[in-house]
Amino acid sequence: SNIEQGEVLRWIEEQTMKLQKTSMLSGSLSASTLQSLIRMKGAKNVLEIGTYTGFTAIAMAAVASRVVTVDNFKAEPASEDVCREAIKMANVNVSIMKMDAKDALNCLVNEVKEPFDFVFIDGDKKEQIDYYEFLLKHPHLFDPKGVIAVDNTLWYSRVFQSDDKIGDEDTVAVRKFNDHIKRDPRTFVSIIPVRDGITL
Ligand SMILES: C[S@@+](CC[C@H](N)C(=O)[O-])C[C@H]1O[C@@H](n2cnc3c(N)ncnc32)[C@H](O)[C@@H]1O
Repeated sequence: SNIEQGEVLRWIEEQTMKLQKTSMLSGSLSASTLQSLIRMKGAKNVLEIGTYTGFTAIAMAAVASRVVTVDNFKAEPASEDVCREAIKMANVNVSIMKMDAKDALNCLVNEVKEPFDFVFIDGDKKEQIDYYEFLLKHPHLFDPKGVIAVDNTLWYSRVFQSDDKIGDEDTVAVRKFNDHIKRDPRTFVSIIPVRDGITL
């Protein structure tokens, strides 16, 4: 339950505050939203792209059978140690794939036994369309009835502001992703305006 994992999540938050990139951690509001979605869906096999210190991976593992989480840990190398320690403390079924996300997807597509029914995308904003397309193209990797949750789709509200004012590559990438999925007949799209926006 989320009560049992609560202490470890608090420990991760404390450890993350000692690192450089503290804003990468999603926080308890996003984590409990993900937990509720996983429970409502009855999802068992969860894939996460973007581990960082493991906050969301461990929160999701509290309500799923297993979580596979992917990160190259290049954004903050020390985040890997925090995550590995937290997994031990929480005693949850989380496996880390330490590699680039696209390589990990290519590995998983060959070795996966049961499709993932819930995927949380929180990695490189510029690769979001590629992750999404890869999942939809491989039904034995991602269950066509599954849920994809994508973090930061409101991107500090920068997505609403005009290109001339804010045109950094991540903002442009998030706008492109939002446009890409908006008219996609293959999926049903909605957005939960929690924290930085989670698109389903
Ligand atoms: C926002 S953080 C993930 C936060 C985590 N889900 C949480 O809520 O605590 C994004 C992570 O994605 C990783 N990342 C970025 N680009 C990546 C890539 N191409 N392949 C693998 N990991 C990547 C970074 O190293 C970083 O740790």
